[in-house]
Amino acid sequence: MAATVASVKTLPFLSRLTRHWRVPVNALEEAGAQADGELVRLSMGPFRPYLVTHPDHVQHVLTTNQPNFVREGMFWDPLAPLVGQGILSDGDNWAESRRILQPLFTARYVNSLAERMAESIDRSIDEVIVPGPPLDIAKTMSAIVHPMIVRLFFGEKISVADMNRLGPAYDVAVTANAIRHLLPFVPDRVPLPGDRAFRRAIRTVDEVIYRRIEQVRTQEQDGDDVVSRLCQARRDDAGPDGDRRIRDDMVAMHGPSTDTTTTVLTWVWPALHAHPEAAARVYEEVERVVGDAPVSVSHLPDLTYLRMFVSEVLRLYPPAWMLPRKALATDVVGGVTIEAGSTVILSPYLTQRLPQFWDRPLTFDPERFAPGNESGRHRYAFLPFIAGPHVCLGQALFMMEAPLLIAGILRRFRPVVHSDGPVSPQLASSLRPPAGLTMALYPIRRP
Ligand code: HEM
Repeated sequence: MAATVASVKTLPFLSRLTRHWRVPVNALEEAGAQADGELVRLSMGPFRPYLVTHPDHVQHVLTTNQPNFVREGMFWDPLAPLVGQGILSDGDNWAESRRILQPLFTARYVNSLAERMAESIDRSIDEVIVPGPPLDIAKTMSAIVHPMIVRLFFGEKISVADMNRLGPAYDVAVTANAIRHLLPFVPDRVPLPGDRAFRRAIRTVDEVIYRRIEQVRTQEQDGDDVVSRLCQARRDDAGPDGDRRIRDDMVAMHGPSTDTTTTVLTWVWPALHAHPEAAARVYEEVERVVGDAPVSVSHLPDLTYLRMFVSEVLRLYPPAWMLPRKALATDVVGGVTIEAGSTVILSPYLTQRLPQFWDRPLTFDPERFAPGNESGRHRYAFLPFIAGPHVCLGQALFMMEAPLLIAGILRRFRPVVHSDGPVSPQLASSLRPPAGLTMALYPIRRP
């Protein structure tokens, strides 16, 4: 395969990372601004991944020649002990998991869960929210999202004690060794901060999940939660290997689904705070459509502006800010030769801020997602859930859950976020607001 471009720009990156070690997405943002949609290499000493941001190039990696770009190497290897060999891997194991899991998350199935989900959210809001004093936003969102996803995945029979252990363990597992994602050339035998906490968290996660698998295998098989349906699908494979595959799929889905959902829902509040005009439209819509009644599925079609608002949050703050892939064979992307074995980094964060594809890219403007406004857009310019064969299985679930939760809070409270200036992300495998960001929720007084 002949390269059609002799040289590709290489940008210094290690020095940028050192400068921005607390907020590495800033280092990526600087590099992205310099790359301006072109394919470039990021120099990190011996490690020089390709940064791919132009939607045409992203399409090539995610769809056109997708089997050549696998989830191995940087980012994925440090997470491998957690997510195992299932839906977050590649090749035959991934294909088998996808075949089993895809039917679980059809829009029809998700709609069938909606009423139950609405009730669960309403109950959690009652239990979790104390009006008035400062509430840690991330912890509050997690306390509402987590029980709902755990029940959906593990069924009603999971004990409260197990549920309460699972949440924090996952949280530690996805954040503890984040530094390894940025230093992929450091071998596993060299200890890094967070390694021990990471291993401890995995032990906790495994204990809880294997216990639940055993329970389903021995006591019941016909629930409609995810673990029961996985046990049904693998009924003929009830040994340790089968259990291991169920465990891998449960972990691979549970982690990304709770972490991403909580993260986006945490960004919603500083976004409302920073954009009072958009916030006023959200409040007006929730008041008009929902009023003070519990939010139900019948309200969802009319919460149009809220959905646009959430999409704009997903554009500016996609939890998956960096998605690395490894090239199996040499390939040409955008005229640049990518050698076999190279790492390619996709970044929804950068692609969704490219001025060539987004008018006033740094301006928060939900109108971009008004019905009809999306028609001229490149299909690969907006990819919070990515695209192609690996497209997120939880997209429909999230787009139902988010308005239920936000409207569920806003029908009763008005938020005041405690922040003096712009809120910037912290170091984690997903793009999170800084830990400890708080808000107060004040009850709405209606006549
Ligand atoms: C705002 C919420 C969410 C966002 C932004 C999000 C984003 C993503 C992204 C970017 C990927 C691709 C990862 C990669 O291949 O590198 C992905 C995959 C996936 N997501 Fe989500 N996700 C969200 C919620 C959920 C939920 C609620 C579920 C629960 C079912 C879920 C399940 C999955 C699964 C199973 C995959 C792997 C699909 C495959 O590789 O075949 N996600 N998600």
